[in-house]
Amino acid sequence: EQMVNVAVLGYGTVGSGVVEVINTNHDSINKKTGDEINIKYVLDLRDFPGDPVEKILVHDFNTIVNDPEVDIVVETMGGVHPAYDFTKQALLAGKSVCTSNKELVASHGTELMQIAEDKQINYLFEASCGGGIPIIRPLNSSLTADEIDQITGILNGTTNYILTKMTRDGSEFEDALVEAQNNGYAERNPEADIEGHDACRKIAILSSLAYGHHVNFEDIHTEGITKITATDIKYAQEIGAAIKLLGTSCKTENGFYAMVTPGMIDPTSPLYSVNGVFNAIFVHGNVLGDAMFYGSGAGKLPTASAVVADVVDAARHLHRNIMQNWSSHSLELKDISEMEN
Ligand code: HSE
Repeated sequence: EQMVNVAVLGYGTVGSGVVEVINTNHDSINKKTGDEINIKYVLDLRDFPGDPVEKILVHDFNTIVNDPEVDIVVETMGGVHPAYDFTKQALLAGKSVCTSNKELVASHGTELMQIAEDKQINYLFEASCGGGIPIIRPLNSSLTADEIDQITGILNGTTNYILTKMTRDGSEFEDALVEAQNNGYAERNPEADIEGHDACRKIAILSSLAYGHHVNFEDIHTEGITKITATDIKYAQEIGAAIKLLGTSCKTENGFYAMVTPGMIDPTSPLYSVNGVFNAIFVHGNVLGDAMFYGSGAGKLPTASAVVADVVDAARHLHRNIMQNWSSHSLELKDISEMEN
């Protein structure tokens, strides 16, 4: 049994969850890996006196990137800077990177996956979409026989929690938001959740992977839930519908369409009963037909579960690239007003 050394960048909600998951399921994870996963460093600007990671805490990324013993870097810092620089340096140094950072994957994923491929290592991002729900790996492997032509998902736990709370309790948007934040689901800046930007990045990542071409998240028409009022919710309830924030994309003969908007969901749709912090992603393939992925869409441990699964995969394939990069040639988005149903 070999030792696989891991460095965790960022000891926030997800980063501390990663340490917790690796410690809690130590034996079974090592058995499934075939090697021993050892957390060698945790990088954070802060100090954590009394915390078990205190002994392995470092403040300088160079300690990690210059240590040839580090095989895998976990990037749970969030944000594009300095995460982009650190990720690129780690990959160029031959270290696989596993991340939950959807902002970075959506903005620089094409380049980072290319470096990983050139180096025969991995840039893995299962946790970037749908929290603990397996969706990146299925799109990269289980569904590769298919030509995917549609993806529709409830991709943001915070907004789904807020809309569910408003529906159940008739509560106001602001109160529901504070509760979602207190539960650790929201982004540090909740604007990314409530304005739909987080869901937009996620539908861009899923679409890039499913359709094999880079999708520019900045081109996707995006509307959040800040304009949804208690009255809207009441009207929806009266006609038996639910309001959900949906990320959708489809590829037809006429082109590629994608958007993020709140929509009315009919009770016959499986998305209707996706409540609280749960996410669901519906995928249609030309030979598969329909598939739906459902589960815990945000939060410390579900998201950490997906990151650690990537660590296990990276450890199993230390010198082989397993992710199929999408073409850097961007898919051109058509005007959503022309999208047929
Ligand atoms: N803020 C995100 C959400 C976290 O609420 O879904 C998971 O990506």
